[in-house]
Amino acid sequence: MRIVIAKDYKDMSARAARIVAGQIYLKPNSILGLATGSTPLLMYKELIRVHKEVGLDLSEIVTFNLDEYLGLPKEDQQSYHYYMFHHFFNHINIKKKNIFIPDGMVQDVGQECKNYDENIKEMGGIDLQVLGIGNNGHIGFNEPDIKFEATTHKVKLDDETIHANARFFATIEEVPRFAISMGIKTIMHAKKVLLLVSGENKAEVLYHALYGGITPEIPASILQLHQDVTVIVEESAAHLLQQKS
Ligand code: GLP
Repeated sequence: MRIVIAKDYKDMSARAARIVAGQIYLKPNSILGLATGSTPLLMYKELIRVHKEVGLDLSEIVTFNLDEYLGLPKEDQQSYHYYMFHHFFNHINIKKKNIFIPDGMVQDVGQECKNYDENIKEMGGIDLQVLGIGNNGHIGFNEPDIKFEATTHKVKLDDETIHANARFFATIEEVPRFAISMGIKTIMHAKKVLLLVSGENKAEVLYHALYGGITPEIPASILQLHQDVTVIVEESAAHLLQQKS
């Protein structure tokens, strides 16, 4: 595991964008796993800039998003579909057919999850998976006490996650209680993982994820067992790590 301490959010985002851009330069038809949340926002902005100003071609990439709320249509401004198009896809030359995000309105959730994993497999597996981390240590929507062996599946959101994500909704009642998420097994199959961590409030959970025991109580702790993980952590979230080293 490589741990890179970035001086601030801008630096973290620029470093992350360089790794993603490097992956695409080396393999233009890369299969990317993508994350939502506040953390990767500036990385997407930087990738758009590199696409527009430096000419990074994104026409051959294939993307699989980590998760989607159940019950929100694609047009809903709180859906992860909307987030991805609004913050990234609408501004680059990705082909629509190469974008995969779980469908939050699907009737047969089990079948949707199965198809999702099969599609990833058929494309040859994820080359680079971008991750954020939740306040409770979740990755994707794999909440504490998850089964590490799970593939893409329906999840019940933790109260802590509902509270954390309520900031994006008008009222807490509007936050969906369920989602579809890539499972830990799906994530762990990615060839490379890029974990981005921003904000002082993530310092403690990051410390436990990287240096504590590997336990389903902190889903991100499983990343200690992945063979190729880069963690880019903003200085404000890294002070406990620095004390340790
Ligand atoms: C959300 C997403 C995660 C994300 C995490 C952290 O609920 N499902 O994929 O990494 O929470 O979000 P943020 O970056 O806003 O702190």
